[in-house]
Amino acid sequence: MNAPIGILDSGLGGLSVLNEIRTLMPGEDVIYFGDSAWCPYGPRHPEEIQRRVIAITDVLIEQNCKLVVIACNSATISAVEALRATYPIPFVGMEPAVKPAATLTRSGTVGVLATEASLAGEKFHRLVHDHADGVRVITRPCPNFVQLVEQGELSGPRAKAIVEEETIPLLESGADVLVLGCTHYPFLKPLIEEVAGPNIHILDTGSAVAHRVLQLLHNRSRPDEGNTRYELLTTGSESTLRSLVPTLCPGLEPERIAHYDLS
Ligand code: SIN
Repeated sequence: MNAPIGILDSGLGGLSVLNEIRTLMPGEDVIYFGDSAWCPYGPRHPEEIQRRVIAITDVLIEQNCKLVVIACNSATISAVEALRATYPIPFVGMEPAVKPAATLTRSGTVGVLATEASLAGEKFHRLVHDHADGVRVITRPCPNFVQLVEQGELSGPRAKAIVEEETIPLLESGADVLVLGCTHYPFLKPLIEEVAGPNIHILDTGSAVAHRVLQLLHNRSRPDEGNTRYELLTTGSESTLRSLVPTLCPGLEPERIAHYDLS
């Protein structure tokens, strides 16, 4: 089907998932909706997040999206069930990579970096209970990471100091696997790798989510004929988004970047 894939996020983090989708399915048109005016979602109440995500989904469905990726862990935790119960299209959500981390750890300690909303929910506790039995899972909310990415600050002394502040306590507690449980964080992966060193595994689920999308398209994505259409919408500043696209999505040439007033 020629309809676009919709991707939504609290802001710019979901662009890390867009990157995985365009690598795996370069012929698929994409409409991306980032709610940067309301970012971060992490400290917000789940009901508030759910209302916002439903309003964004309405926009993506009006644009005829055939499938929506909830490229935000906080939004997935708060809204995926309501979305699946409301709309007739498939939704793909995010889930922190606790299961592969539990298999990979040799020290028996896994560190999970995520937002408050993602870590507080019953879903996260169930995930740990079901898939990390016998493993010590330590968590750390890092709203500052989200802020760095929203500002396009992916390197430099300030960014490194923030990454050290959030990551080192997990490493000092013995974690040998770090799970990036928020779609903003993969943009900071080079810095996290630098701080953590070569013996620490760093996991995120962007690529697994792209493969799940392909599976839902019955493993038949549109062929890349050089005319793939990317549209990026933001409730925040259009000029900020425009200036950050070359950093966050190298090589992407969106057909349209626009502000969208959701209020
Ligand atoms: C946030 O908006 O707080 C981060 C989004 C996420 O949970 O992936």
